[in-house]
Amino acid sequence: MLTHVQLRKKFADFWVKNGHKEIPAIPLVPQNDSTTLFTGSGMQQLVPYLLGEPHPLGSRVFDIQPCIRAQDIEEVGDNRHDTFFEMMGNWSLGDYFKKEQLTWFWKFLTEELKIPKEKLYVTVFAGDKKNNLPADDESIKIWKSLGIPESHISQYGPEKNWWSRAGVPDNMPPGEPGGPDSEVFYEFTEVKHDFKFGNKCHTNCDCGRFIEIGNSVFMQYKKNVDGTFSELPAMNVDFGGGLERITMAIEDKNDLFETNVFIKIILALEKLTGKKYKDNKKEMRIISDHLKTSTFLIKQGIMPSNKEQGYVLRRLLRKASFNLHKIGVEIKEMFSLDALIQSVVNTYGTVYFDFKNDVETITPIIQEEMNKFGKALTRGMNEIKNTDEKELENKAFYFYQSYGLPLELLEEIFISQNKKVNRDKFRAEFEKHKELSRSGSAGKFKGGLADHSEQTIKYHTATHLLHQALFDVVGSDIRQEGSNITTERLRFDFASTLKPTGEQIKKVEEIINSKIKESLPVEFKIIPKEEAMKLGAKSFFREKYPDMVKVYFVGSASSPQAAYSKEFCGGPHVKNTSEIGKIEIYKFEKIGSNLYRIYAK
Ligand code: ALA
Repeated sequence: MLTHVQLRKKFADFWVKNGHKEIPAIPLVPQNDSTTLFTGSGMQQLVPYLLGEPHPLGSRVFDIQPCIRAQDIEEVGDNRHDTFFEMMGNWSLGDYFKKEQLTWFWKFLTEELKIPKEKLYVTVFAGDKKNNLPADDESIKIWKSLGIPESHISQYGPEKNWWSRAGVPDNMPPGEPGGPDSEVFYEFTEVKHDFKFGNKCHTNCDCGRFIEIGNSVFMQYKKNVDGTFSELPAMNVDFGGGLERITMAIEDKNDLFETNVFIKIILALEKLTGKKYKDNKKEMRIISDHLKTSTFLIKQGIMPSNKEQGYVLRRLLRKASFNLHKIGVEIKEMFSLDALIQSVVNTYGTVYFDFKNDVETITPIIQEEMNKFGKALTRGMNEIKNTDEKELENKAFYFYQSYGLPLELLEEIFISQNKKVNRDKFRAEFEKHKELSRSGSAGKFKGGLADHSEQTIKYHTATHLLHQALFDVVGSDIRQEGSNITTERLRFDFASTLKPTGEQIKKVEEIINSKIKESLPVEFKIIPKEEAMKLGAKSFFREKYPDMVKVYFVGSASSPQAAYSKEFCGGPHVKNTSEIGKIEIYKFEKIGSNLYRIYAK
């Protein structure tokens, strides 16, 4: 049986053989994109190229992109949902189209992975009359020519067979690319249809008999301001297939948690708790998924906190603690999570981790958060037990604030204690207070719509100026740690061994404004990585770059030595610094040891 490590290699070899170049995945937490907390699909880094910009590596590329879909947290517990997953992707940027894509993917599944043809079903776009988008008859012809019987081909409307980051055509904002798609499903013949999901089972049914293992999106449209659709400058293919789902098909296992991307974690959990997976499936799925995702997040530099990505991490760890409690295990000081984190690291090995160091650095962070929460949970549950049902309805927020018990957890505790609480009243009470405390993260769970408004583009270029000015004034040992842009302001985090003085920060602000006044051109060039390094272009240390990179110059790209700032970057930027207007640094603070944060607008 192919392991996920062998699957990765087969995938890479297959696309290389067919003329594709590998692009590095982007970090799980995207840079310079305030509209999303996590990378949620492989195509996120390809948007400018799907819209027509030339890609530095050409028109055929592929990668394996780690993704997190935080909006799926509550789905975890069934046979197939997870919060961390990897998307295997390939793209045609105005190169090949439907015939090559569908034929290649079919060959990959049936010849390279040897998945039995009779287990595979496909779906095709049935058209969207309202938006004047035609049915995809061509894909039906192609699938038939590959020998797929009509009984295995179904057509669905835009809610199933249209893909854009915003979903169906009606929900797409102007400028967003999208298109019809064709999905391939794998059938688990042993799974009986669950009538909860409808009278009749069908390929796209949610009962678990069929799982989607790959999606070829034909990115050929862009939404216009007036709501109509026009064709993009080139016809593109955006393919994404879940590595975990394909693994389920390879192993013919209808439980993701029993495949080789999870089984080590489940076994470690059984050993640690003395409980059996078969008796505690839902809880153990949640625990193993959440600890895996947390391990990846901490590896990316995220720490538990009350904001944004840190808050998601905190929620994951709290849910993991609560589910441990549910199966009868209390996290106490003595309960060591070492073996569990080790099992996550062992599952992925050198694909993502450094065996020894990662367990040593990641475990204490998880352990501390879970220990703390374990204690609060015990106290909170006791107080809930002794509180009258009617009173509980008004105290949702109190329990959240005092014990850190999130809404979903509180509801689960009520159920476990047989408390009858009016859910709507309780939720409304919670919502009233929530905004005050959970600043920032609301609305960002949907994911992936990079904000390319005029204002954020200006702040993006201003961020490059700020980065260079800090270098010039504070010293060349400063290192960018992160940046975040909204339409209201820019934020820039950096490490520095010496604390910058107020005067220095003032000076930085002056330089930025003088560069804006000089009306410098902002241009980019696509050049070999080596050459970019030689030019001294700044890169972001958490990101891996391909062999050819895009470098933005503030000052002319034709005399790069003389340009004021040079930075590895995908863009977009203003064309001239004069467009930025005046920049004011309105806040400067220390956020950690040798770590500083600047806010400017
Ligand atoms: N971008 C497409 C998806 O996420 C392939 O399904």
